[in-house]
Formats: sequence, C-alpha cells, structure tokens
Amino acid sequence: MLRPVFAANWKMNNGPTAAVEFMRSFISVYPKQNDRTVIFFPPALSVAPVRAAVRERADLLLGVQNIHWEAQGAFTGEISASMARDAGATVVLVGHSERRHVFGETDEECGKKVVAAEKAGLTPMLCVGEKLEERERGETESVVLRQLRAGLSGLSAPHSGPLLIAYEPVWAIGTGKTATPADAAAVHRVLRAELSAFAGEKAGRVPILYGGSVNQGNASALLAAENVDGLLVGGASLDPNTWLSITTA
Ligand code: 13P
Repeated sequence: MLRPVFAANWKMNNGPTAAVEFMRSFISVYPKQNDRTVIFFPPALSVAPVRAAVRERADLLLGVQNIHWEAQGAFTGEISASMARDAGATVVLVGHSERRHVFGETDEECGKKVVAAEKAGLTPMLCVGEKLEERERGETESVVLRQLRAGLSGLSAPHSGPLLIAYEPVWAIGTGKTATPADAAAVHRVLRAELSAFAGEKAGRVPILYGGSVNQGNASALLAAENVDGLLVGGASLDPNTWLSITTA
C-alpha cells in the first residue's frame, strides 16, 4: 500500500445513489496517482454499486465499516468478511470508536474481527484511541496499547500480512478539536514501537493513520508529523471538493 494513505469513513452517509454520484464526480477530477492510496468506507450497501460504477479505477480501494467475526449464520443485521469481499471491499475498519462506544464493542470482539478479516483476505484497519477522561487521567498510552494488543492478539507473530492502524482520539472525533501534530506523533511513536514487537522489521511498513477532525486546513501539518502515514477522515470526506483537496495535499 502506497503512502500516504487517505481514508474516507462515510459513516451512515451516502446510500447507493449518493455514493455512486460522489464517486463519479470524484473520479472526474482525481486522476490515478502513483504515490498515494485512497480508500473509501461507504455504508456496506453502497460498496457493490460503487465498485460496479468505478470498475476502471482499481486504484481506489473500497472497504466496509464493520464485519461480524463469524463467517455466516443466524446474526440478524450483520455482514461477514467474505460477503464484504464479494461486494468489492478489500479493507475493513475494526474497532472504530463509534463501534466501541456507541455499540459496546469490546477489545476481544475487535480481536476476533481482525482474525476474520485476515482469513477472508480483507485488510483490517484497526482503530484505537482514548476518551477525553482517559487522556486527562494520563492513560492515553495504556489505553491505545491495550486496544492494539487485544486487536492483534489473534494474529500469528511475527506478522507479515497486510495491516493498517488508525489512531483516533475519541475526543477529537466530530468535535472540531484536533490533536496537534505533536500529540499525534507522540502516540504514533508508541504504536510503532509496539508494532515492532509484533511485526519485527516489517513494523515500519504498517501504515498508521491519524483521524479526528481532519480538514483541508490541518491535513498537511498532521501528515508531516513523524510516523503519521495517512489520515482517516469523517465529516470532511463527505464533500467531493474538500476530499479532493485533502487527498491531493
Ligand atoms: P471526523 O473527521 O468527522 O472527526 O471523524 C473522524 C472519524 O471518526 C473517522 O473514522
């Protein structure tokens, strides 16, 4: 995966019709770039129509925002990793803070989802991040390390398969409060060091993205921070022009 990595998490926005319209207008202004990766995480229902509409743009990767860890069965409302693959996704977000804190997803469940993703050939993007009160108690490092270790615990070490990590401090998501580049670099350094224990010399190749109120104005400075290999963007990825200016930052 080429760096920087720009990932758009559309959350519960852009159903099939709007998602296809967005992608058509985006590809008309965004020619293939050989020095970066762009990933879209539309709602699951929009993945197949978007893949069909932009089949010629294999450079634009698609992912889903969540999967269940089981391959199939009586899990009403859920989708499996292999279904996501079948629809055209190659990446999956695991443990996004909204999954953890709105839907009560646990560290252990995130670990199972990472394993399920890998088995089905989806690249997991494991998300970690501390809440405001945890930061204020000085627990940032211990929280993100606990989430990272639990999320990767089911993979064999030394790990060499494709993997992405996203650091998204919960207090910065959708709040307009962004971590400073120095804040982000400090946490990314801790994550990189832990990845070395897990992935050995390949740790340097695992992209670590920052997310949380990224916009046109702060994208370049965040990307310039040490160990920040990409950006995971929510709100600012919903407007094609803003997203274009972030991905071409
Ligand atoms: P915002 O960019 O809207 O703060 O959302 C960040 C996020 O949660 C991306 O996954």
